[in-house]
Amino acid sequence: MFKSNTFFYHLKLDIYMFKLLQRLFKYNTDSFYRKDQMGILARYLREKDNWDLHLNNTKHYILNYFNENNPTNIMVIGSGWLLDFPEVILVNTEVNVILCDISHPAQIVNKYKNSKNIHFKRMDATGGLLKLAENSNTISEFITQLSGFKNNLDFTQYNMVVSLNVLNQLDILLVEYLETKFEVNDEYKQKIKQIVQEQHLSILPKGSSVLITDYIEKSITNTGVVADKGLVNTDLGIYSNIKKWNWVFDTHKRYRSGVNTTMEVIAISK
Ligand SMILES: C[S@@+](CC[C@H](N)C(=O)[O-])C[C@H]1O[C@@H](n2cnc3c(N)ncnc32)[C@H](O)[C@@H]1O
Repeated sequence: MFKSNTFFYHLKLDIYMFKLLQRLFKYNTDSFYRKDQMGILARYLREKDNWDLHLNNTKHYILNYFNENNPTNIMVIGSGWLLDFPEVILVNTEVNVILCDISHPAQIVNKYKNSKNIHFKRMDATGGLLKLAENSNTISEFITQLSGFKNNLDFTQYNMVVSLNVLNQLDILLVEYLETKFEVNDEYKQKIKQIVQEQHLSILPKGSSVLITDYIEKSITNTGVVADKGLVNTDLGIYSNIKKWNWVFDTHKRYRSGVNTTMEVIAISK
């Protein structure tokens, strides 16, 4: 996707500058999510060959759906660096594409700033839980409000909605953000995961959605011992055209200290 070495050089410089600035300022959700995005890019550059296999699988799945359904109006949730979205849709068609993320990398906004059919929408895809997390004074205050919370985002005007490797990120990052403020016990983590994921699935319009997500995290030790952790504990609902693959995620033993991490990924049409 990124064509020149100069582009990578500048991205590496950006990561370095971002880390430097980050040491000087405290977190709000904005800096928290931008830090995570920088982490994604840094890991991609470290693990490029393995990641490219996963990214190509994702892109092929989306492109096949696109070619079969000829959508005119596409919503992409979790667009980020667009590592996993087919560039051909963005540059070789005039289809209307709305890229939605909590934070858009300046390099991506700059890259597409002259494309009339590509629009950037800064949006919390949980429907407002990040504001709630920012404004809560205690974890129980957050959990009480979560219980009555409804994600009211409406994507029915789009004839293709792509949930782009974001499903479990919605709860994992939200919990990590909450943990910068409070202690979050396992019971609360499960509750957050269930509510956030259920509501995300419920806002994907039936008959026009594609969802790609890692759903099992495998930790592999040097002796080959494997431990599985489920990342999605919600019924994915009625879907078709299932594809699955493995994503060799971290071979530098940095995501989980001392072990390699591979993700099992599922792609579905809903
Ligand atoms: C694992 S990445 C997916 C890969 C991404 N397509 C890319 O190429 O960078 C998840 C993306 O979802 C975004 N995200 C996470 N939580 C979000 C939320 N609550 N609302 C909107 N976007 C969110 C992150 O900022 C990140 O860009």
